[in-house]
Amino acid sequence: MAIRGLIFDLDGVLVDSARYHFKAWKMLSASLGIDFTEEQNEELKGISRADSLKKIVNWGGIELTEQEFADAMERKNSWYLELIQDMSPDEALTGCRAFLKSAQGTYRIALGSASRNARSILQRVELISFFDALVDGNDTTRSKPDPQVFQLAAERLGLEPEECVVFEDAVAGVQAAKAAGMRVVGVGAPEVLHEADAVIAGFAGFGPREMEQGLMAV
Ligand code: BG6
Ligand code: MG
Repeated sequence: MAIRGLIFDLDGVLVDSARYHFKAWKMLSASLGIDFTEEQNEELKGISRADSLKKIVNWGGIELTEQEFADAMERKNSWYLELIQDMSPDEALTGCRAFLKSAQGTYRIALGSASRNARSILQRVELISFFDALVDGNDTTRSKPDPQVFQLAAERLGLEPEECVVFEDAVAGVQAAKAAGMRVVGVGAPEVLHEADAVIAGFAGFGPREMEQGLMAV
């Protein structure tokens, strides 16, 4: 089916914020006396704040009361917000602005992110004007790999899942897009994102034409 909609994940696809999430989770884990590795962080990509903390608590083998859990989420987010406070348009990932520019008008464009900070980040990096619809962590009740976020994005674009292509850097996100019945371009390493229909290292030198060609056989 013809591609009519593009749905973008935010962290790690449009914005180089994954490293800030990692730093903030590392600080939070340390404050709870839990060791936290980069491999574990890979499993948190695309996962909501609450579900990420559940995993960390589980890995650390500790228990938190409801209040301690809420405080820990709040702490992580305020560290994260501190880390990104000086985020500027040059922190949009290389090539994604040019990609969005050349896609605008031809495709309907949506955001499908787990982040509750998505809207303010898109504003900071000055990408928000490219989007016809935004779906973020404030709109969803289930974390990726559940397809909810992408289903809602397609719905808000007025398109069928089969007409949409998702851009994702997280394994859980690729799985969510597939579960929604959409085609997926992985952004990152092919060995990590092997469930995607095509994988790119980034948007440099990649345009809508390359996307159409890369997904033609899918
Ligand atoms: C996703 C990130 O986009 O958003 C996750 O990949 C993050 O690492 C999640 O936990 C939730 O983000 P936030 O900004 O609401 O804490
Ligand atoms: Mg991501």
